Amino acid sequence: MKKMSMAEMLSAAEKNNCAIAAINASNLETISAVLAAASHCSAPVILQFSPLQHAAEDISYREVTQLAELISLRYEHGAYVVHQDHGESFEDCLNALEGGFTSIMYDGAALSYEENIANSARVRAVGKDFFLESELGVLGAECSEQTGELDDTAYTRPELVKEFVERTGCDSLAVSIGNAHGIYKREPKLRLDILDEIHAVCPVPLVLHGASGIPYDHIRLAISKGIRKINFFTQLDTAFMSAFRTEADKGAYMMFAQGAGFKAMTEKCEELIQLCTGGKIKC
Ligand code: G3H
Ligand code: ZN
Repeated sequence: MKKMSMAEMLSAAEKNNCAIAAINASNLETISAVLAAASHCSAPVILQFSPLQHAAEDISYREVTQLAELISLRYEHGAYVVHQDHGESFEDCLNALEGGFTSIMYDGAALSYEENIANSARVRAVGKDFFLESELGVLGAECSEQTGELDDTAYTRPELVKEFVERTGCDSLAVSIGNAHGIYKREPKLRLDILDEIHAVCPVPLVLHGASGIPYDHIRLAISKGIRKINFFTQLDTAFMSAFRTEADKGAYMMFAQGAGFKAMTEKCEELIQLCTGGKIKC
């Protein structure tokens, strides 16, 4: 299985009017599941890892890079890149770069517009060759219980997009269009009208976070309107954990429960990889 840069992957997605699935993983079973799925689909995948996972599992960026490299040797087909997800500080981003990550995200979305720009630009100026994802707008934390919609101020504002990309120097942009992390309280309503406006002015590929629970036909529509990278975590975690629990509840040894989790997560990853690429990129 080959390594591919984030730039190459997203430009292939642009050329083929499709997207690349970006899936969080942080240990042997989950990293193996993501890469096995990409190989079975002969497709590219983004393997991502966040500071939260780093803290939860006490595994370093360098170890994730090395594990991925080792596991990728099992496979002939497919391609992957290792990407830092939701880097929260300048130091987090440097850690990822020092650990061999060639693609990182600086997430300053919760900060003011000016602070977000200043911090993203500081990361950009580190002087190494890497791909930088930044985020503008605040994801679903402010999602109203009643309507399932975000406050107006939380959506990415299309009129700020061009200036934000120019001043941060980011290579891709994560947007807030009604998407939220974790389990949706009600069926999400993506604001495709806002996505259209963003896409019309944005010079870099667009990223959709919080994709678990978004109906597949909405995901396909978002792709047709310019989304090129789609982040999934909760859906895979659920697939792994429910298979793991079923085995554990039968009194199985840990290795069998982990094996069942791996298998269930691999199958779900395959489904999501196919959903995103639509079989249009073969490698
Ligand atoms: O950055 C990762 C994600 O945006 C995943 O969100 O857990 O809602 O799928 P999710
Ligand atoms: Zn996210």
